[in-house]
Amino acid sequence: MNSTKVKLAGICSYAPEKVLTNEDLEEIVDTSDEWIRARTGMKERRISDKDTPSSELAYGAISKLFDQVDIKKKEIDLIIVATVTPDNPFPSTAAILQHKLGLNTIPAFDISAGCTGFIYAISIAKQFIENGNSNNAIVVGVEELTKITNWDDRSTCVLFGDGAGAALLTKAKGGEISEIIDTYISADGKYGDLLIQKAGGSKMPASHKTVDENLHTVYMEGNKIFKSAVKAMGHAAVKILKDNGLTGEDVDWLIPHQANMRIIASTAKRAKIKPNKVITNIEKFGNTSSASIPLAFAEAVEEGQIKRGDVIVLDAFGAGLTWGSVLLRY
Ligand code: ACO
Repeated sequence: MNSTKVKLAGICSYAPEKVLTNEDLEEIVDTSDEWIRARTGMKERRISDKDTPSSELAYGAISKLFDQVDIKKKEIDLIIVATVTPDNPFPSTAAILQHKLGLNTIPAFDISAGCTGFIYAISIAKQFIENGNSNNAIVVGVEELTKITNWDDRSTCVLFGDGAGAALLTKAKGGEISEIIDTYISADGKYGDLLIQKAGGSKMPASHKTVDENLHTVYMEGNKIFKSAVKAMGHAAVKILKDNGLTGEDVDWLIPHQANMRIIASTAKRAKIKPNKVITNIEKFGNTSSASIPLAFAEAVEEGQIKRGDVIVLDAFGAGLTWGSVLLRY
């Protein structure tokens, strides 16, 4: 058993200023504020400028993080970025950020796990620190899903928003109560085609035809994904609590992926966590994929809702299909 304890030393978020409301969407597709609110819980979301890449949102979140935590830039020795909307297919957005931050030659890489990306990235960074390969890791969840949105498809274009969150993971010193207690990650590629960006990879390289047919955008079979998400997120929360001898009663906060208010309510119910212990900001940001958990987490810390010592479950589901959870004491 590894004796090194890893903690989440700080967390910050950043979102573009421009707001896209349900009323704005009524002008674009055949939808209504009432339908969007009732089916998803969303009222508005943030949207990036055409010329602002994901790395800039991530840089915004990391810059705030350096103001919050007691660490010098040069002490950072690892950057992991979870994203399905990198600046470029390659090089990685993590490498772009490493250069932007002036952090010469430290390892930097992206991971792709859809909306579960932030949880996957925490799980990886935790192990780097436990194994002695890193002391201070920055973990980012960043997404500009509005850049790969099909604005003709009302069943998906109302859902997504842009944003970023960044956390610092470090070794916990003796006597500190903050600790990432456990992580759980899982995937099932069998259902990958239910939530997919079909073109732009090696299977279907970009062509005039793929652009004309909108194949570089999010394709989602929403109802099937909904059913899988309800099962997987419920399972991920229940499993991590059970594995650690806890119940929903022991949890101060559940921070679920913000995909749909109905999925969130069902997850909390299955994990027996009371609704007033669930952090949500879906009404303001929509589904920001791998950025959604750090956006909600950072906002709740900023507003004084989450305090040091609170027991927290992070829980997500996304493209892959992937799902997972983190149990931590903040
Ligand atoms: N406005 C008005 N009507 C709409 C809209 C809209 N924006 N979108 C769909 N509808 C209509 C449909 O056409 C359908 O009409 P019909 O009954 O006449 O055929 C009706 O509403 C119901 O459609 P459903 O797709 O069955 O609606 P559902 O209740 O499933 O809600 C939603 C759709 C919100 C997309 C839901 O399925 C969902 O949240 N799915 C999960 C999303 C998710 O968790 N994604 C995971 C991560 S995302 C990522 O990894 C990038």
